[in-house]
Amino acid sequence: MSALAVSHVYPLGSRLNERGRLEVGGCDVVELAAEFGTPAYVYAEADMRARARSFLEAFRARTERFEVIYAGKAFPCTAVFRLFAEEGLSADVASGGELHLALAVGMDPARLYMHGNNKSHAELDYAIESGVGHIVVDSFDEIERLRGRSQRVLLRVTPGIEPSTHSFIQTGQVDSKFGFQLDDVERAVAACAEAGLELRGLHAHIGSQIVDVEVFGRLGEVLAGAGDWPLLNLGGGLGIAYTADDDPPSIEDYVEALVRHAPDEVTVLCEPGRALVGNAGVTLYRVGTIKRIPDVRTYVAVDGGMSDNLRPMLYGARYDAEIADRFGGGTLSTIAGMHCESGDVLIRDVELNDPRVGDVLVVPATGAYSHSMANNYNAVPRPPVVFCRDGEAREVVRRETYEDLTLRDQ
Ligand code: LLP
Repeated sequence: MSALAVSHVYPLGSRLNERGRLEVGGCDVVELAAEFGTPAYVYAEADMRARARSFLEAFRARTERFEVIYAGKAFPCTAVFRLFAEEGLSADVASGGELHLALAVGMDPARLYMHGNNKSHAELDYAIESGVGHIVVDSFDEIERLRGRSQRVLLRVTPGIEPSTHSFIQTGQVDSKFGFQLDDVERAVAACAEAGLELRGLHAHIGSQIVDVEVFGRLGEVLAGAGDWPLLNLGGGLGIAYTADDDPPSIEDYVEALVRHAPDEVTVLCEPGRALVGNAGVTLYRVGTIKRIPDVRTYVAVDGGMSDNLRPMLYGARYDAEIADRFGGGTLSTIAGMHCESGDVLIRDVELNDPRVGDVLVVPATGAYSHSMANNYNAVPRPPVVFCRDGEAREVVRRETYEDLTLRDQ
């Protein structure tokens, strides 16, 4: 590894430039922080495109029958739906709002999959009237709501597979709010037929941030054994590296496990979210306050926190961090946010190189489920999203303003 390389947690193509500063998509992040302010979500466009192509190539090498569906919830904004549509991906939308974003960029509605364990009448009408290709039916109640609509559907099943990941993001177990138990599939198939729906296959999503690809092989086996269908959708869930020590499976190994048990004539679908966008993004913050408590802890406080990244608080998720123009260790630090809450800690115990007030701090691997779970706690405006490509940066989502915060108040 050359002295200028950074770990695989950073977006593909990232490096330290001659000035020792992190570059993402060819852009110097210290300059980006000055131009767009902080906090800011910064993405390398080429990273997302490369990962989309890896999925497609991995499938193409094994089968002609496949579909790669971007799970929009990981990073829902129009620029991303557009980018993945350009790369030839379909999309999964999990609400009327996500559907609206995908349609707003002119995505082919036939290539959309509509999810949700409790879709409303209004959402179902919106999906059907927009020409959504498939609705992934989640319950007997939903089958009733769809009666007479002659829509193409998949049935979501909970196959009783529990991958090892945080319990909040396990979804395949029997005790789940999602989908049909395997025992109920026969009854659900009959109910779909009776309601006039065109059932095209089964769907399962067993969880997220999964690093053992064998469970996907098992899932393929279980679904392939649950009837003869033209489509089998094995959901998303491939894990990514959050810290330099993490060594997740490759896209290639994941796809290999997905197709292993699929009969030749079946089209295999998958819905990656995190694996397409997670490592493509970093968050830039500005260090504002440093509190040293002798023999206890050094708090390095930044200008964001649980409003722009809830994952540490919700799942105990672990991240790396660096000073953007001074990579390296030496000072054991705890990165605190700016919110009125002691639990607003982004990273406990991370080594930084002599952190100072005014530094730009970079947290890598924030490309998935950060922007999408951002909130306005303490009436903090949400950060912008900046796409970088070949040294050019463009804001694809602007920063929220104080005026935005009063827009809905009557
Ligand atoms: N398909 C379905 C039906 C899903 O529910 C999900 C994620 C995906 C695909 C995409 O999963 P992925 O490939 O991104 O793992 N907020 C949590 C993750 C929740 C995932 C919910 N469903 C987090 O920040 O870790």
